[in-house]
Amino acid sequence: MPRPKKPRTKEHYYQAAKKHGYRARSAYKLRQVATKHHLLKGVNKVLDLCCAPGSWTQVLLELDAGLRVVAVDLSPIKPMKNVSFIQGDITNPETVMEIEKKTEGSVDLVISDCSPKVSGNWELDTVRQLALVEATIQLAQKLLTPSGKVFTKVFQGKGFQEFLSNVKRQFHSVRLVKPEASRRTSAEIYLLASGPIR
Ligand SMILES: C[S@@+](CC[C@H](N)C(=O)[O-])C[C@H]1O[C@@H](n2cnc3c(N)ncnc32)[C@H](O)[C@@H]1O
Repeated sequence: MPRPKKPRTKEHYYQAAKKHGYRARSAYKLRQVATKHHLLKGVNKVLDLCCAPGSWTQVLLELDAGLRVVAVDLSPIKPMKNVSFIQGDITNPETVMEIEKKTEGSVDLVISDCSPKVSGNWELDTVRQLALVEATIQLAQKLLTPSGKVFTKVFQGKGFQEFLSNVKRQFHSVRLVKPEASRRTSAEIYLLASGPIR
């Protein structure tokens, strides 16, 4: 029998995020990976895809207040200092053009935490999520500097293995990481790739 889930409001990272003033508990996932994998080493400009409500951007600026951040989401976010926000769909060519304009065509790091609106149909949700991850990889290929990195959430469902093989052909280094703050029972995993092959 599955273990009963802890109510969200009692959960450790939920409480910690509230106390610390983070906009979401997912802040800790980025924080843990950024520290362990030196994500911000040599990074000046970051593209934060699917950024709302903005906790990953908060973490970026907390770790390095001098970063330039371009952040994108379908939903609006509360404005943040030094952040250039675009409200739009990352799969829409018009949004992509806006991103290219605001980043001046290059970034050192792309981070992406996209989740589609959950339909309740697991297979459909994973397919939709994978489409957002593929859009992330396309943007990373287009915008990353030669030693640039992409860090993205991906659901391990239908099409995952094929996607992974495809990304391995497109980047010099690819690894999968599971931050401690990501629930063990969740099918999400994070892909960290660097050095786009063009
Ligand atoms: C888990 S939340 C991101 C949380 C964020 N990383 C943070 O720390 O605050 C997932 C986000 O994906 C966004 N999203 C889903 N589909 C999108 C799309 N096609 N284009 C842009 N954003 C999208 C949703 O609006 C939602 O805000």
